[in-house]
Amino acid sequence: MKKIALITSGGDAPGMNACVRAIVKTALHYGLTPIGFYDGYDGLMNNNTIYFKYADVDNIIHRGGTVLGTARSEEFKTKEGRQQAIKNLKSHGVDAFICIGGDGTFTGANILSAEMDIPVIGIPGTIDNDIYGTDHTIGYDTALNTVIEAVDKIRDTAGSHHRIFFVEVMGRAAGFIALNSAIASGAENVLIPEELTDIEKLASDLKEQNKGKRSSMVIVAEGDDGGGAKEIMEKVAPYLEGYTLRHSVLGHIQRGGNPSAFDRMLATRMGSYAVDLILKDESNIMIGSKGDDLVTLPLEKAIRIHPSPDLSKLEMLKKLRTQEL
Ligand code: F6P
Repeated sequence: MKKIALITSGGDAPGMNACVRAIVKTALHYGLTPIGFYDGYDGLMNNNTIYFKYADVDNIIHRGGTVLGTARSEEFKTKEGRQQAIKNLKSHGVDAFICIGGDGTFTGANILSAEMDIPVIGIPGTIDNDIYGTDHTIGYDTALNTVIEAVDKIRDTAGSHHRIFFVEVMGRAAGFIALNSAIASGAENVLIPEELTDIEKLASDLKEQNKGKRSSMVIVAEGDDGGGAKEIMEKVAPYLEGYTLRHSVLGHIQRGGNPSAFDRMLATRMGSYAVDLILKDESNIMIGSKGDDLVTLPLEKAIRIHPSPDLSKLEMLKKLRTQEL
């Protein structure tokens, strides 16, 4: 009877609970033993576990956050930390390891797998969507919906007051949330880490597009090279005398909340599939989604390649904001 260790790690993401539930229920269905370790890699080192029963994962499919807790563990990056984790995993007789998280989580899992010789399955869970090999990561769709709900509200007040708003969204190194929330919320401009920001050009675009309009919305990814929303607003202000500018940082509300239907389905399918793959003795792979299908790729490849959002969407946004006279 196989014992499967399970962690959620890195930034939490809506849908992680749905994924934990699916892993636990599928494992129990097959007579396997799912063991959760709390707080990501910290739990492996502290030996902080839960031997899951069916009832432990009832009523969590709809909840944001992660019932297993999560962390960004520095100690696990050390050889000593990992040795402690391996000792604990061995003491439980663990045969396989599933981790839900981002590329940092997968990097840890890859090293663990090499040092302990344990099969590892990675499930992409992060609101940033910045994992190679999957169309969607768990939590991204919910975060996008949270952002557009907030931008819709900001739009109401921006229009009432004739204001240009700079809205900062998450994404330290990737512009997926910014670019796609800009499209879905009807924002005119977007600044993402994947494209160099030109402040003078932004100012002249804003002047041009604002003719005859009551407001404009600029979505700024927190990792943009020009700075966050406040910094961008301050840099652009000298070029925009006579306009009223405001900024808003959406922050961690983007990481919370009930997962969307899309994220619940994605998380459930990926979680259940991860157990199937363990039963097939698959190892060191990540599960991804491509269209309607679930796919797998080497974990190492998912870690090595950094994905970029479709930059042709930037061109489309430009067409939407300018009018040929
Ligand atoms: O999990 C990804 C993410 O939300 C990024 O978008 C953001 O930059 C970062 O985490 C924030 O992390 P923390 O909550 O640890 O400050």
